[in-house]
Amino acid sequence: MQLTDEQAIGAPFAVADIGHYAVFGHPVAHSLSPRIHSAFARQFGIELEYRAIEATAEDFVVHLAEFAERGGRGANVTLPLKQHAARLCLSVSERSRRSDSVNTLIRDGVGWRGDSTDGSGMIRDLAERHRIDVRGRRTLLLGAGGAARAVAFALLDAGIAELTIANRTPERADVLADSIGEPLRVHTRYWADLGNWGGFDLVVNATSAAHHGQLLALPPSIVATRAVCYDLSYAKAAVGFRAWARSAGAAHALDGLGMLVEQAAEAFEIWHGRRPDTDEMVAELRAYLPGDAED
Ligand code: ATR
Repeated sequence: MQLTDEQAIGAPFAVADIGHYAVFGHPVAHSLSPRIHSAFARQFGIELEYRAIEATAEDFVVHLAEFAERGGRGANVTLPLKQHAARLCLSVSERSRRSDSVNTLIRDGVGWRGDSTDGSGMIRDLAERHRIDVRGRRTLLLGAGGAARAVAFALLDAGIAELTIANRTPERADVLADSIGEPLRVHTRYWADLGNWGGFDLVVNATSAAHHGQLLALPPSIVATRAVCYDLSYAKAAVGFRAWARSAGAAHALDGLGMLVEQAAEAFEIWHGRRPDTDEMVAELRAYLPGDAED
């Protein structure tokens, strides 16, 4: 078959050849992703447009189709759409399939490919920013919603010794444990009984309690000597858990700001083939966000 000139050199874009990217979610107006991706792009002199697009579970499919029509090449997906996004993809990565979560969409021919960079973002933040090796750690995961699911597999892959899941609604913890399917390494416990199970070396808060203005009731005895406590939230939403972790004697009381930036960096690398420097971005956001300093 003979290619026309246009096919041979690639059809021209209607607008200047600027990549269109976006984050979809609800609410999404306060998302830091546009700021982070624009800063990453500046590191490499890449011109792109990255917008925040308000979309609910009901109208996400319409907004995503419009975005694709306008030439959208990639998108991030945040709450409450990560599971919905997985359903809309033509194909998903293995880690997205296991966690049933997509936070990164890549335009692939006529459809979208889905990936999940949340779990690996957390592991990279721990390993490279905080120099914390999770291997062999007895780990407690608080929560069993989408955020918990996204990090559970990454923690297991990274070599934690065992994972204990506790959730306010215990049945959801059982569902998550069952879907992981590693009964020798993954257990569930009733929240009210947590004080009876000794100390954990890594305690991860994946609940959304602070976003509803609620404090978690947790016994200090769950924090083992030299334990790491990590809240997937950041800024104000992580203040309560981190203060509790410090008072319980944790060696590190960390928030999820580094994870946010690392998951973005990995999405950026998937789209643009280059890995941005993240330390500057974390420092810039920490200075700008309300909350307290990292320790
Ligand atoms: P996300 O995608 O952010 O994880 P989610 O799927 O709604 O959101 O899950 C929220 C998690 O926070 C759940 O584990 C929830 O517990 P339930 O399954 O019992 O709802 C947990 N959560 C929310 N508020 C909480 C609170 N006040 N105390 C303890 N857990 C809470």
